[in-house]
Amino acid sequence: MPTANINGVQIAYRDEGTGRPILLIHAFPLRGAMWEGQIAALAREYRVIAPDLRGFGTSQIVPRTSSLDQYADDLAGLLDQLGLGPERVVLGGLSMGGYISFAFLRRHHERVSALILADTRSQSDTAEGKQGREQSARLAEEQGPRAIADQMLPKLLSANAPEQLRAEVRHMIESNNRAGIAAALRAMAVRPDSTPLLATIAVPTLVIVGAEDAFTPPADARAMHTAISNSRLVELPGAGHLSNLEAPEAFNAAVGQLLDSSVA
Ligand code: MLT
Repeated sequence: MPTANINGVQIAYRDEGTGRPILLIHAFPLRGAMWEGQIAALAREYRVIAPDLRGFGTSQIVPRTSSLDQYADDLAGLLDQLGLGPERVVLGGLSMGGYISFAFLRRHHERVSALILADTRSQSDTAEGKQGREQSARLAEEQGPRAIADQMLPKLLSANAPEQLRAEVRHMIESNNRAGIAAALRAMAVRPDSTPLLATIAVPTLVIVGAEDAFTPPADARAMHTAISNSRLVELPGAGHLSNLEAPEAFNAAVGQLLDSSVA
């Protein structure tokens, strides 16, 4: 994978295809490779950029990441380096990728032509949720990514997900670094409530969710759809939280429709 020095950190990324640019932001605690099925399909017609966020995959490990704004600014820097400074992109994020999309919109909204909010939510963490993040951050630091995989895997995929997919997701999690995981948990814990932002989103938006998502359930997606006037809601039957992995064809079709119905 190519890498770029962004804000003093080596960021690894995929950059496939040509045409209208789509930037895909991965979930926690995964890596850009979770978008393989989208890259393969969408890069036939579009330019798909899928980085490993700082601290994940083959990007540089940065133990202290103060907020999700840092990831958003890395993405803006990556787009600049890829010659996409003046051009608007289709921004897509799943779960934590969605939280980072909100940070990106707050800081760089003029760079976005359309939006994909997948299996995510606008609310910040509750006090209990924040405590859970800190416990998980310590678990990651003390016991490593395998303990995080054990904790999260039952909720990341639906009960019917094939064993092979479960193993692939486990592999992606376990190949990450404990410090990068802990940093992201602490950054997610202090993210602001993005609910007030929703009414300001004017670009065409796809809100998509697995019907069996146990982390960010369809009720969260429906609330975002109601608040974003120019949005379409798609619920993927049978899919869990990582809906792009469990229902890639339906996911890609919904993204294709967003692209067809919006302008660059
Ligand atoms: C994710 O999939 O990115 C995480 O489950 C998000 C979260 O922990 O809130």
